[in-house]
Amino acid sequence: MVDLHRIAGLLSQREAGCGLPRDLYTDPEAFEFDMAAIFGRSWIMVGFEVELPRPGSWMATTIGPWPVVVTRDRHGDLHAFHNVCRHRGARICAPGKGASPRLVCPYHRWTYELWGDLAHAARMPSGFSRDEHGLFPVHLANVGGVLYVCVAETPPDISAFKREFEPLLAPHRLSDAKVAFENVLVERANWKLAMENARECYHCPTAHPELAQSFPVGVTAHFDFGEDKRQELFEARMASLGLPIGPVEGDWWQAVRFTLNEGCRSMTMDGQPVVKIPMCPAGDGDLGSLRWSVEPHGFVHAAADHLFMFSVVPVSPRETHIVSKWVVHKDAVEGVDYNVEDLIALWNCTNLQDRDLVENNQMGVDSPAFRPGPFSQEAEGLAIRFVDWYCRTAQAYLDGEGVTTKGPVHGVR
Ligand code: FES
Ligand SMILES: [Fe+2]
Repeated sequence: MVDLHRIAGLLSQREAGCGLPRDLYTDPEAFEFDMAAIFGRSWIMVGFEVELPRPGSWMATTIGPWPVVVTRDRHGDLHAFHNVCRHRGARICAPGKGASPRLVCPYHRWTYELWGDLAHAARMPSGFSRDEHGLFPVHLANVGGVLYVCVAETPPDISAFKREFEPLLAPHRLSDAKVAFENVLVERANWKLAMENARECYHCPTAHPELAQSFPVGVTAHFDFGEDKRQELFEARMASLGLPIGPVEGDWWQAVRFTLNEGCRSMTMDGQPVVKIPMCPAGDGDLGSLRWSVEPHGFVHAAADHLFMFSVVPVSPRETHIVSKWVVHKDAVEGVDYNVEDLIALWNCTNLQDRDLVENNQMGVDSPAFRPGPFSQEAEGLAIRFVDWYCRTAQAYLDGEGVTTKGPVHGVR
């Protein structure tokens, strides 16, 4: 049982524009709170509709530590459930993807329809009701071919995100795409340190020379290039192509298409496309990158030739998994139109560099000497936005539980 008054006390200690008090990055109770208050109540991006290509397809993943499964039924409709057997709670589908006419629990073979109904349970007594033992559903949203899952009873409103963001994403034709590669990187650090790192590029010029080749690492959160007219020219060119670029944003999401560095057309090692068949053929493959990010856990960069998804999955107070997926046009043939090594080189390299930074950050934060210092407003604006959102969402949860924080929590509007 989490001591919510203690969490409220920790939140009250946060100073405006700074990181969080140490215990929120280290403590098992704070981790449990985060799962309930943050991951238990947010939309989590789990992948792409094309990962469930046919009736019977399923994809098992997690919301933080909790197993969930997305299915496609025989009518083609998508569903999402807690991937937890209604018999004695075994995880039904192993993590990953598959296809089967029904879902069968590996323990005692209880068998579920792809729409969640319990179809079969052997040797149960005559009074046993299958109707009362279907899978527990979770909310599922499809935003332009990207799947979001929420385990809350009442999920946050996703309609504005859908309405405002889908026009930006549509040119990337996610219905004609495929996941070319995915991997999981283990980081020995708290998920919020991984997220703070992912939300700023203050560290990029020195830590990520490869990323700095194509990504404008010195810009502000909203790509204000100052005197440099590049973004203005880029905006005019995108307007002439009829491509909306934003920025658009809501409380927990934001999206913008921005220009890459001079001469770069993709976020790759040399800034050049690595896939011959583009996802988005407009503008001769020179479309900068569409970046969208969602709290609490991820971002995506979509260039004309491929798309990269980054998702932070909390596992324990000091363990976080980074799930990465690379998406290309469905007709692109591996070894002919692209090779995986070139496709994944930049983000693999960047993720490994970030892992070292984040684990190193955790070691310092673990020290009793740690005091959260101020973020750079200019270079870490999105990290502040993340921590503010975290505090606001945490406080909303505490309010709902009737627990008051001592004084105002910074980040709460
Ligand atoms: S726990 Fe699933 S069938 Fe027994
Ligand atoms: Fe980084």
